[in-house]
Amino acid sequence: MKDGRRGQMGGRVLSVASECVPLVKTGGLADVVGALPGALKGAGWDMRVLIPAYRQLRDMAAEWPEVLVEQALWGGTGRVLAGEVKGVAVLLLDAPHLYDRDGGPYNGPGGDHWDNAQRFAALSWVAARIAREGLGDWKPDVLHAHDWQAGYAPAYLAYHGNGGCRSVMTVHNIAFQGQSSAVMLGDLRLPASAFHPGALEYYGGISSLKAGLVTADRITTVSPTYATELMRPEFGMGLQGVISARAGVVSGILNGVDLDVWSPEVEAENAYSSRDMAGKAAARAGLCAEFGIEVPGPLAIIVSRLTDQKGIDLLPAALPDFLDGGGGLVILGSGDPGLEAAVRGLVARFPGRVGLRIGYDEGLSHRMFQGADAVLVPSRFEPCGLTQLYGLRYGTLPVVAAVGGLADTVINASPAAMAAGVATGISFWPTDALAFAGALRRLLALHADRKAWARVQKNAMAAAVGWQTSAAAYAALYQGLKG
Ligand code: ADP
Ligand code: GLC
Repeated sequence: MKDGRRGQMGGRVLSVASECVPLVKTGGLADVVGALPGALKGAGWDMRVLIPAYRQLRDMAAEWPEVLVEQALWGGTGRVLAGEVKGVAVLLLDAPHLYDRDGGPYNGPGGDHWDNAQRFAALSWVAARIAREGLGDWKPDVLHAHDWQAGYAPAYLAYHGNGGCRSVMTVHNIAFQGQSSAVMLGDLRLPASAFHPGALEYYGGISSLKAGLVTADRITTVSPTYATELMRPEFGMGLQGVISARAGVVSGILNGVDLDVWSPEVEAENAYSSRDMAGKAAARAGLCAEFGIEVPGPLAIIVSRLTDQKGIDLLPAALPDFLDGGGGLVILGSGDPGLEAAVRGLVARFPGRVGLRIGYDEGLSHRMFQGADAVLVPSRFEPCGLTQLYGLRYGTLPVVAAVGGLADTVINASPAAMAAGVATGISFWPTDALAFAGALRRLLALHADRKAWARVQKNAMAAAVGWQTSAAAYAALYQGLKG
């Protein structure tokens, strides 16, 4: 049957990940995993998404049919349940001994789950089995593994047989590598013979991400610039050599955004478009009122995990001149306790100019993109980044560090880009407080020049941030593997 399908356009892909919108999300990974199946449908690719049945998903799937049983799954039985959520074909791996727990996908009240290596090895093991054997007559052509949680899936295909299924390993964030001690090798069902630097060994231990990177047929990451950055020590975080060695199969494909969800035209309240921006002004007034701030100049926002990656620690040094110059800032995020304290300090220091919500709030994030003038993304590294894309779409000009996907998606309002009429935002480099403060000064100046601002805003809103181009790139990649 496999050969019968060879040469035909399109096919079947099993996507395996730890997060998927709208079921479970801690970051952009979930958005991408949830959007890809819909984006690829038009190109003839039937994609199913395998994720764990975390505690909060089990009720929803109570009536879903069981399509596979795996008896010995690290201390219990695993069952794969099949259903559909918002048009996405979902496969849930129900293994209560691994996933029916308090807390988020990776940690509980007491920190990281102690057995994360086994929990995600189990997900990868079942993914590899489905890829190899199929589910009934649904036999995947390609297994698409996302990040360290799925890294062992291509390795299991490589070491336990692939049944004709090829594999793609996508890096959404190299900072998380799924490292374990080498004594785990046997428990994780990996061959001791592969414990050498050219295969599974990683600084004396093992890493699920490295395992995926050395065994997958293709490697992708989520922007062209990050694909090249990953081969350098500043960004590769120890894996630069591994990725460089496979440069011939590495490519960068930008993320898109779901325009049915992220467009000013589809917002229930204060909808607007580039032809009529009245709704944006109303949303801005609403946002200021919600946070009790008054902002004569540009109103900026940050919607982000509060981590070292995101450059949040630069704010106390970079912001004062911007706020003195009439700017304002609303922050929505949560994460590192030290950074949460730092942004709380900003509110105390600049009352009436800085608004803050610690937490996760999808609805508020939409109101922020609608109402703000600019979105700040001062990341130290950013594989792709989604909030600058939302910013473009909403005419909420992105102010970004020129790294990774931020460099690929924002055209800095330099004199040359302004003269050519192509600017879509402001970028700066390197990621430090001095350069960031300079970018905020440029934001104040651009905002003061109303004609120039309107031109950049129009360009931003016209930028292609949907999935079309990237879906075609993934389709071509899969097709190339299928032959
Ligand atoms: P990362 O995946 O590194 O966190 P991305 O920019 O790719 O960065 O994706 C972050 C996603 O999470 C975006 O959809 C963003 O809007 C969302 N997000 C982050 N923090 C929050 C929050 N506190 N409340 C609502 N949405 C958030
Ligand atoms: C990661 C990256 C982010 C990217 C997202 C989705 O979380 O940090 O830049 O947009 O994955 O690919």
